[in-house]
Formats: sequence, structure tokens, C-alpha cells
Amino acid sequence: MQPTIETIAALCKRRGFIYPSADIYGGLNGVYDTGHLGHYMKENIRASWKKSVSSLGFDVLFFEGALLGPYAEWEASGHISHFHDPMVDCLNCKKRYRADDIDLEKPCPHCGKKGWTDVRQFNMMFETHVGASQEHGSVAYLRPETAQSIFVQFKNVLSTNRVKVPFGIAQIGKAFRNEITPKQFLFRMREFEQMELEFFCKEQESLAFFETWQTARYQFFLDIGINPGRIRLRSHRLDELAHYSTRCTDVEYEFPFGWKELEGIAHRGNFDLTQHSSHSGKDLAVFDDETKQSYLPHVVECSVGVDRLFLTLLFDAYKEERIENEETRVLLSLKPSIAPIKAAFFPLVKKLSEPIEKLYQDIKKSSFIVDFDESGSIGKRYRRHDEIGTPVCFTYDFDSEKDGCVTARNRDSGAQERLHMERVFDYIKSMISS
Ligand code: GAP
Repeated sequence: MQPTIETIAALCKRRGFIYPSADIYGGLNGVYDTGHLGHYMKENIRASWKKSVSSLGFDVLFFEGALLGPYAEWEASGHISHFHDPMVDCLNCKKRYRADDIDLEKPCPHCGKKGWTDVRQFNMMFETHVGASQEHGSVAYLRPETAQSIFVQFKNVLSTNRVKVPFGIAQIGKAFRNEITPKQFLFRMREFEQMELEFFCKEQESLAFFETWQTARYQFFLDIGINPGRIRLRSHRLDELAHYSTRCTDVEYEFPFGWKELEGIAHRGNFDLTQHSSHSGKDLAVFDDETKQSYLPHVVECSVGVDRLFLTLLFDAYKEERIENEETRVLLSLKPSIAPIKAAFFPLVKKLSEPIEKLYQDIKKSSFIVDFDESGSIGKRYRRHDEIGTPVCFTYDFDSEKDGCVTARNRDSGAQERLHMERVFDYIKSMISS
């Protein structure tokens, strides 16, 4: 059985993965902070994504754009006129909803009375002013997607790197959307992180690349350990397409609240480069050595949220098992490459700490994220690490003093094996890469 969103949110807070932002002031709706374990797990997600988008044999360049963009950029991209969600208010209690989230034939889910305002369009970008003046020319927006800065800088990136079309520009960074109703914890946030690849190619090759990237992106989720029975690809209907795309396929995950988008793979055509060329007056075309003509490349985009993927991995890995004495063991069955802590080191009793603490320090220096824990019973220490997804725990006991071996205990099966302390580093290394 899948956990509820409340169970996952409580685990995240209890174990220091994610905290509600500004918690002591009552929080800020749709905004979260990331703790120590969350930080390392996100680092692993980012690293897996970077590796996966670079592994198809095409050039992929990495890029970090600014979070603020001028009015002109968002006007050209279509976000000023199209980046809207339909909004409606209850006439009785004034509660605000996304109109496509509720049934307007039914009463308000909050107060139970029926009566709605007209549906209005609400622009989801956060607007601000750059500098001291509040004139129209100073208006800027926090980016609602990372993609646009890639399109705007396309020519600079191309001319300063030795690459040719087809190639990709990839970016990981924050995006901001003033969602009408942020919900489901990390699923729909107001401040979140995206991992986006914009893959530039010739028009005649773009459909084939669209297929290639769909297959590759689906495989990525299997590779990071997501249950194949819970993900699927779904093509968008024409009426679902965003203003910039001509085709789109979502990778969807089956959450307890239904099948939902995890990643979007969009055929953006040359919409964005055309828009930015005409609005900026700068020629963004590339020269084709074969045809001796200039053209605007077409784009296949793969876009996934770090936080949404983080939430998905937690849902997918969460298990509860009945153990002895009616106790429940909670475990996160994360792939070792994704787990924040790779291994934990325990002395059976405190007086045996020194040799195992030394081993822990040596492994830590080799840049694996590991933990040392000498408090509480061994059973309690196992439970603590099961709950945060640590794949293996090594225990040093009285026999270790004689044979130099430790007991490696596997998180998922509970199976134990003895191995020499000299082999622990290689054991962790091969576990992470397998
Ligand atoms: N550049 C294309 C783009 O931004 P999108 O479908 O709006 O497309 C891409 O967003 C991905 O970003 C989504 O599949 C999701 O993983 C993530 N995402 C979008 N809005 C989000 C939100 N409010 N909170 C968390 N993640 C979000």
C-alpha cells in the first residue's frame, strides 16, 4: 500500500529531509527548505540526471542562467500573455481555487455553499522591479521555467563552444510560479527546481529525436530505481498542449492521488528561437554547411522537477513491514546511488568504538557520505537508518577484534554477511555503481 502525502511529509520533517520554509513564523505556503539528508539526496538526483542526459552520445553543454529576466524576455516567450491558470472564488467564503481543480456544478468543498465568481485568468509569474524606480522599464520576473535563458543565450553558447547542431544545453536551477493552490507537499510548489534539457536539431530530424528522448527519459526513471509498474508515457491531446509546443509526452507516475506528470518531453519546434529573434532583433539562426543556408534549429525539451522527482522517489521507496513485538519497520528502499547516506558504521558497544570509528573516518575522507552511530541498541540503530534509506550498516563486534571483520547488514533483506574491514570501501563502491 502506498503511503499518504502526510506520512511522507512527516517523515521528511522528522528526519531532516525537508522543512516547511519559515516554519517558526507559520510557514510560507508552497515553499520549503531542504535539510541535510534532503540536500544529499537532491545532489544524487542531480548527478544522475546530468549523467543520463550526457550519455546518449550527443554533445550536451551545461548552463546556469539568471533567475530574474526582463519584461521583454517574458513577452517574447509568450509567458506574459499565456502563462495563466483559470481561477475562481467561492462567493460565500471567498476561498480561491484553480477552476480546473474543482467541479463548479458542486458546492464549495470548504464551506459547502454553492455560488462562484466568473472564471478569471491569473498570470502565475512573480513580478518585481529592478532598481529603485517602479517604472514599466524596471519590471522583471522571476523565471517560471529555466528554459528561456537557454534560448536567449543560445547564440552565445553556440559561438563559445566547439559544438554543432544537433546538441543540447542543459540546466538545473530554481523556477518560481505563483500557483493558485500549491498542494500535495512538494508536488505543486511556488518555488521549485527544474532540470531541463533543450536539444537543438534540424527540423527534418526533430521527430526522430523526439522519439529518442522519450525512450531515454523513460529509461532514466527505471535506472534510478522507480517501479516500472508505476510509471508510463502519455501523449498530450491537442487541447492540452502548452502555447509553445506542437507535441508533448509526459512521463507520469501513479501517486496516491492519481497518475500525474513527472516529466514533460515537448517538441517546441522553433517557436522560442523565432520569438526571441524577432523580439530582440538579433539573428539567432545557424549556418548549415551542407545546404549553405541559415536556419533556426528546432527544439526537443525534456523537463523534470527536482522536488517532484524527490517526492516520487520517496513515495516509490517507502515501505512498512511488521517485525517482532508488533513493531513496524519503516524503510526507504532507495537505490544506493540515490540514498543520501551510503553506509552507517556501528560499534556493538561503546568500548569497541575506536577501530570502527577510524574506518568510518577513512571512508568519509574518500568522499562517500557515511554516518557513525554508537547510541541505542543495534536494532534501534538499524531502524533509524532503514527509515532514511541507508543501504548497508557495518557493525564491529567482539569477533571483529580477532578476525578484523565486520557484519554488513542489508537494508532491504536484512541479510547479514561478514567481510574484512579492508574490503568495506570496495563493497560500498560497487554497491553504488551496480
Ligand atoms: N519548460 C517546460 C516546463 O516548464 P512544465 O510541465 O510546466 O514545463 C516541467 O514543468 C516540470 O517541472 C514538471 O513536469 C514538474 O516536474 C516540474 N514542475 C512544474 N511546476 C511545478 C510546481 N509548481 N512544483 C513542483 N514542480 C513543478
